[in-house]
Amino acid sequence: MKGLIPAAGLGTRLHPITLAIPKELMMIGDKAIIEYVIDAMKEVGITDITVVVGWRKNAILDYLGSGKRMGVNISYVVQDERNGLAKAVGSGEHIIGDEPFLVVLGDDFFYPKTFLKDILEFHKKQDADATIGVAKIEDPTRHGIIKPGINNKIEDIIEKPSKKKAPSNLGCMGVYIFKSDIFAAIKKTKPGFKDEYQLTDSIKILIQDKKKVLFSEIKGTHIDVGTLEDYRKANAFLLERKA
Ligand code: UTP
Repeated sequence: MKGLIPAAGLGTRLHPITLAIPKELMMIGDKAIIEYVIDAMKEVGITDITVVVGWRKNAILDYLGSGKRMGVNISYVVQDERNGLAKAVGSGEHIIGDEPFLVVLGDDFFYPKTFLKDILEFHKKQDADATIGVAKIEDPTRHGIIKPGINNKIEDIIEKPSKKKAPSNLGCMGVYIFKSDIFAAIKKTKPGFKDEYQLTDSIKILIQDKKKVLFSEIKGTHIDVGTLEDYRKANAFLLERKA
């Protein structure tokens, strides 16, 4: 299986730092956030990894290079217009081809690094068309929220709903396994929340097309580093572990 890491976002919530440093390169402990994602992919045998970059993201190439230092093979694609996660994933189509692939967001910190093992095994065992990593969340307005059905089926998915409109407390954790049919769904996706092409809306199209779209709970600690507060939390967590 190949890996895809979207890392082209503007990171506006982390201005002014992200005017100079891509948020995926902010250091947690002794490594950039994105290197933890690469380590976790390597841990489950995924060494063919594509990173989606864009304007002001050259430093990501400088930091990761070919991937040799980390024992993986990294290629890059460019998302010209920063118009949403669906388009970031879609920009990897020509490299991914027809194979199933794993997407992990480049600004998400997970611990321990074995967190991908269960979801991959689950996906294979269930022979799903797509499996979405979820966890119980407190604030639905920061996540895609799923409506769970029986046998881990996802019946619906809504991007960042209000607390009132959230169909559950299970939020997407930035981990997705797709087959290549997601690319057709992305092409059909219309701009949604914040006028961006949302990956949750592409997943909704898979559900409407009666594809087997399942969820699997991600265990361990997950911090989506979107704000300075999250960033401090991730560093504090790691310091505590080391102590
Ligand atoms: P976010 O939803 O945190 O968006 O992206 P953002 O643009 O980076 O940050 P804000 O909202 O402006 O503060 C989650 C992940 O998806 C990538 C980001 O780089 C990040 O790793 N992403 C997002 C893309 O690759 N392309 C996009 O168009 C949007």
